Formats: sequence, structure tokens, C-alpha cells
Amino acid sequence: MLVKSICCIGAGYVGGPTMAVIAKNNPNLKITIVDINSERIAAWNDSNLSKLPIYEPGLADIVKETRNKNLFFSTDINSAIDESEMIFISVNTPTKTYGKGKGMAADLKYIELCARNIADVAKTDKIVVEKSTLPVRTAEAIKSILHNTENDIKFHILSNPEFLAEGTAVEDLLNPDRVLIGGESEMAIESLAEIYGTWVTQEKILRTNLWSSELSKLTANAFLAQRVSSINAISELCEQTGANVNEVAKAIGMDTRIGSKFLNASVGFGGSCFQKDILNLVYIARTYNLNEVADYWEQVIIMNDHQKRRFSDQLIKTLYNTVSGKKIALLGWAFKKDTNDTRESAAIYVADHLLNEQANLSVYDPKVPENKILSDLNYLDTRTEEENKNGILCTSSPYDAIKDAHAIAIMTEWDEFKAYDWEKIYKQMKKPAFIFDGRSLLNKDKMNAIGFNYYSIGQ
Ligand code: UDX
Ligand code: ADP
Repeated sequence: MLVKSICCIGAGYVGGPTMAVIAKNNPNLKITIVDINSERIAAWNDSNLSKLPIYEPGLADIVKETRNKNLFFSTDINSAIDESEMIFISVNTPTKTYGKGKGMAADLKYIELCARNIADVAKTDKIVVEKSTLPVRTAEAIKSILHNTENDIKFHILSNPEFLAEGTAVEDLLNPDRVLIGGESEMAIESLAEIYGTWVTQEKILRTNLWSSELSKLTANAFLAQRVSSINAISELCEQTGANVNEVAKAIGMDTRIGSKFLNASVGFGGSCFQKDILNLVYIARTYNLNEVADYWEQVIIMNDHQKRRFSDQLIKTLYNTVSGKKIALLGWAFKKDTNDTRESAAIYVADHLLNEQANLSVYDPKVPENKILSDLNYLDTRTEEENKNGILCTSSPYDAIKDAHAIAIMTEWDEFKAYDWEKIYKQMKKPAFIFDGRSLLNKDKMNAIGFNYYSIGQ
């Protein structure tokens, strides 16, 4: 099938950057990203590139280069579906918050709505590409909806999971370790391989069956998250034994069989994928009665929840067993550096715990605005919106956040935190001044020399 136009449903963290990079490398393809959220589309179309709804290093330049040339953002979903030969589904698949599989299974209602929308609108044959992370055999459901329309249009379903990490999305898309395409129709697989082939070498484009492709995505995220939980488990042991987790990580990481990546002990992993995908894996395993498999992967989540809780407990214990009425400054709210995404960020859970203990929180994050911080807390439903607003002060300067604070908790590894004037910060804090470094970002000896009581995960 000759693909001239592509439609991408979902203008989020996956759809936006992925389509921008495809557009950059395929100037002859017309790509339209559509979304039901008109505010989001307006932000993508904003002439002020700092207003793009997603912050990713390098993204604004590519959007500037391609927008309104071969990359378009629109709310007219039906027209975009109608005029495209290939349709990517990049909508969100959050964990279910109701009914069967609540808290575990992926909520596929947005995916199903997309499939139904495509079935209603399409007048010609289409290649439909699953881009969102999905449970294994979701393609079956999409296929069933698409193949039961009353016309004789042919739909070819592909699974093409996204492996980009936020904060490095553009780099990951430009230089992927691999591109995975799962499907049944060789014609459809090769049509998509040709698009990636404009900048990715053929050896890196893997072709598999649909189910292997879907399961590979969940497995990759489960393995990555498992490494973080494994090193975090060791971090607690380090604190008891006098070992230093960073030294242990370096020592084991130099074994080429283990490798050095994803061994940074932290306050806990966050992000939209790790927890959701593991819960999905656990749910699927339980559905097949594979209880040992399910328990094994569930432990990765249990360890992560423990690490977040342990961090805030340690802070409270060190501050003489009470934070009530004390000002605690959180530096960072995003789930990792170089992104404005806060989904499942450890900061949300640590803040919630400290608010339960009646701390007065101040928060500074270079990319996350106040309304996002408050809505993350409100979403937990632990207390009223007014109580959250009263308990938390969001500042646009780190120095305002730390002024007169009893303690600082470093929640995100933003580079700028390393460059701060820590002597000046020390002078402005209440004494004794405490730092709880959830990211091993600062130098312990240097901080102790300034006068701080410095605690870091696993040291
Ligand atoms: C992840 C996968 O890496 C990516 O391939 C997939 O497409 C989506 O999910 P992302 O969630 O964007 O990407 O970020 P990632 O870099 O994987 O980090 C996830 C979380 O783990 C972050 O909170 C990060 O701070 C934490 N982490 C990561 C650690 O705590 N220690 C590490 O060593 C690495
Ligand atoms: P991801 O990280 O998977 O990209 P996001 O939440 O950032 O997730 O983006 C998903 C986008 O998909 C949102 O902007 C949402 O409005 C959009 N979306 C969800 N359902 C539909 C739908 N049926 N039609 C069009 N857009 C949709």
C-alpha cells in the first residue's frame, strides 16, 4: 500500500514526539495528529514554541521545522482518518479505576473508542498501528471491532510499541536501539518499515508476530523497573551495613553481563509506564492462573512503594519524629529530570505522606506549574482541595522554597540543583539544616563541610 498520509490519534507524550520525528525524516508524507482535547491541539499550534504542551529537549526545533509543512495538529479526527492510509493509535491507557481489574488492568476504553471511530469513518483500506502500550492480545479486540463493519474495507493491524523515554524522547527516536513491528500482513509491516527506514538501518527494524511485539513492550518495561527495585532493595541494606549503594552499583555494573545502566538507587521510580505495565503483566498472569509469575512481578511494585514510604519515614524520624508545622522544601516534582510529566512521580506520594503528618510543604520544580502539583495531590483524594492548597506553597524560585525550611528533600535529579549556591541556601535555612537526597545528586562530603546534616539513599 502506498502511504501518503498518516493520521495519529492522541497528541500526547508518545504521539507528539514520535510523529514529529517521522515528519522530519519523511518530508513527502503528510502527518496529521488529532486529539479530542482542543486545548492541547491549540497549544501544539501555538506560535510561541515555549507553549507546546510537552517539554522535551530538541522537540520544539523539530516542530518548528515541520509544523504546517508536513506536520499538522487538528481536532478534526474524522477527516484525518478518512484521508490517511495509515492510522496510529497513541491514546492513553491508564490503569482501570473501576470495575473488574480495578487498580490492575489497563483501561482500554479510549482504544476501543478509537477503533470504533475508525470503523465508522473509513471508506478505504487502512493500516492501523497500535502505538500505545497495551496488554497482550489487545490487537484481537481492535481487529474484531474493525473486521465487523458492514462494508468490505480491509484493515491491517500492526503493533509498533514505543520505547522512547521521556526527557530523551527525541534522541531515542532519532537513534533507537531497535524498532519493533509486529503484525500478520507482510505488506503492512513493510509499509511501516519503509517509513522508519528513512533514518533507521534495516538491521534495527525487527519484525515479529503481533503478540510477541505486544508482550515485548511490557517485558522491557518490567525488566527496567525490576533493576531499579533491585538496586533500591540493596540501598536499604547498604544503610544498615555501612556499604555505599553507589559503590556497589559501580562494582556490579562493570560486569558486562549486568551492565551499568538503570542502577541508580532513588526515592522510587515513577512515570506513566513502569507501574502500569507491571500491573498489567501481573493482571494478565493472574488471568491465566499463573500465580507465581504474577507474585514475582508484583514484588517489583511492592518494593517501589516501600522505597517511597521509607524515604518519608526516614525524614520524619530524623526531624525528631515530627514534621508538624515544620517547613519542608521539596526540590523537584517531575518523575525524572528533563520532563514536565509528573505521572506516578515519587514526589506526589512523599508529599502526601508529609501532609498527613501536618508538614508545611514548599515545592519548586523548574518545569512543573502550581496547578499541576495541586491537581496531582487532589487526584489522590486524601484531603480536600482547600486543605491541599493550604498545606503547600509552590514557588517559582528555589530560594523562596528553601527560605526558613527545616529540611530539603531532593525528589528529581534536575541538573540545575547541583549548580545552586548551597552555602547561601544553608544560611537561609533553620538550623540544624537537613538535606534528604532522594537522587544521590549532591556530594556528601561537600554538604557536610558546609554544615548540613546530609542523608542520601543507600549511603
Ligand atoms: C520508560 C522506558 O524507559 C521506556 O523505554 C518506555 O517507552 C516508557 O517507560 P520513562 O518512564 O520515560 O521510560 O523513563 P525512565 O528513564 O525509564 O525512568 C522511569 C523511572 O525510573 C523514573 O522515575 C526514573 O527516575 C527512575 N529510575 C530510572 C531510577 O530511579 N533509577 C534508574 O537507574 C533509572
Ligand atoms: P501518552 O503518554 O500515552 O502519549 P497522553 O495522556 O500524554 O498519553 O496522551 C494521550 C492523548 O490521547 C491525550 O491528549 C488524550 O486527549 C488523547 N485521546 C484519548 N482518547 C482519544 C480519542 N478517542 N480520540 C482522540 N484523542 C484521544
